[in-house]
Amino acid sequence: MSSRLTPSELRRLCTSRQWYHTIELAPGILTPGWFDLRELATRLPLPDSLEGKRCLDIGTFDGFWAFEMEKRGAAEAIGLDILDPRAWDWPWGSDDAVVDALEERKDAGRGFDIAREALGSSARRIEGSVYELDPDVHGSFDFVYLGSLLLHLRDPVGALERVRSVCTGQLLVVDQIHLPLTLTRPLQPAATLDGVGRPWWWRVNLRGLVRMVEVGGFALERRAQPLLMPRGGGQQFPHLTRRLFTTRAGREHLFSTVSGAPHAAVLARPR
Ligand SMILES: C[S@@+](CC[C@H](N)C(=O)[O-])C[C@H]1O[C@@H](n2cnc3c(N)ncnc32)[C@H](O)[C@@H]1O
Repeated sequence: MSSRLTPSELRRLCTSRQWYHTIELAPGILTPGWFDLRELATRLPLPDSLEGKRCLDIGTFDGFWAFEMEKRGAAEAIGLDILDPRAWDWPWGSDDAVVDALEERKDAGRGFDIAREALGSSARRIEGSVYELDPDVHGSFDFVYLGSLLLHLRDPVGALERVRSVCTGQLLVVDQIHLPLTLTRPLQPAATLDGVGRPWWWRVNLRGLVRMVEVGGFALERRAQPLLMPRGGGQQFPHLTRRLFTTRAGREHLFSTVSGAPHAAVLARPR
């Protein structure tokens, strides 16, 4: 498939809507993503070659990881996603304004469609929840990427069990970790429960993320790798208010914007 979109149309699409991922749609034409994961992709334990493999990117959003797997030779790159944020796991009492804002950012998955066309990609998106993964429906996958999703799930271990049911090769989980709990309890799995007005649930430390993957039915292939997920051009530096320094949430937000959001990469295989 080759793109029918001209460079000027692509530039307009970059600035006229919100993007989650920074993606180079054409030489020098970059989407202003909330995150810019291009350099991170070179450091993660993502196989250099996925030649001939059937690959799944869970919670694909604008599709950065699905396109990356395709670049590395995947025979099939499939992105799974829920396009209507109302169907995500929301805690009781969430504000409609927060849901509406996410609906606008999600834009019914249009970012994936635009990027797919611009890149001339054959990656495919299917709509559905990680909780619904079923080998009889979806088949099996040689490589699965699960990025920044466990934090947003009420039942992350249940989700990992479903991932295990379709994963016959490797799983790479890259998810948020709670930095203070990681530093103060390096050996003990620990989590705090958020659930305050946004789809953020269990905020685990590094050991907790590893344990979740293990109890989901996977064995680690290498030591978990802590990392900072860098912000992209679409994530503005916050206004310097008093609240930014005096509240824990403010300080965390400041740290994430300046240094990157604390995450860890866990490469595993079904037991
Ligand atoms: C924070 S974004 C992460 C985007 C991408 N996976 C990455 O690592 O860069 C979370 C994504 O998960 C999707 N999502 C939320 N709940 C989901 C669920 N139950 N099943 C599958 N995807 C889900 C959202 O639509 C969104 O695309």
